[in-house]
Amino acid sequence: MRQLVYSSRARDGCLANAELSEMLRTFRHHNSQTNVSGILLYGYGRFLQLLEGKSDVVSDLYARIAADVRHFDLYRLDIGFDRQLFTGWPMAYAKVEPERDMPGYVIKAPYVDLHLIDEAVISKLLLYYSYRFAQGGASGPHPQELAPGLWAL
Ligand SMILES: Cc1cc2nc3c(=O)[nH]c(=O)nc-3n(C[C@H](O)[C@H](O)[C@H](O)COP(=O)(O)O)c2cc1C
Repeated sequence: MRQLVYSSRARDGCLANAELSEMLRTFRHHNSQTNVSGILLYGYGRFLQLLEGKSDVVSDLYARIAADVRHFDLYRLDIGFDRQLFTGWPMAYAKVEPERDMPGYVIKAPYVDLHLIDEAVISKLLLYYSYRFAQGGASGPHPQELAPGLWAL
């Protein structure tokens, strides 16, 4: 199993919800056929994606994603976990709200640049969402209730 994390900037600065849900529908269909799991985070015109799957499958998928004109400025992050985080989720999705999701790490700027947030924080953000989705998705209990101290670096 290989995990790959990158961040990027969405082409139009801010994608319309309809476009995003259509994209997700296609990604999920493709990922479930190739046994890929992961999460796509979107917020402030940026994507952050974790891909999990067989090494050659993930490499191949990332090459296609990197060539996709719907985003640019891709930046690979050196992040890995000792286990698969999104088992059963062909591509979980969440809209990132840094003030809620990254307490203590919000950069006081009109937008939060995911490129400026370090890998330890991004790792915790991904763990945060894996707890959330393992508990049944966005309607589950708040991850800080499940994992107190998750944010203490
Ligand atoms: C932010 C972003 C995330 C994407 N994630 C996936 C994904 O998880 N799975 C997938 O099959 N395609 C994903 N794509 C789409 C691929 O870039 C590509 O369009 C798709 O794999 C079809 O490739 P093809 O046109 O070469 O067949 C993503 C695109 C973007 C912009």
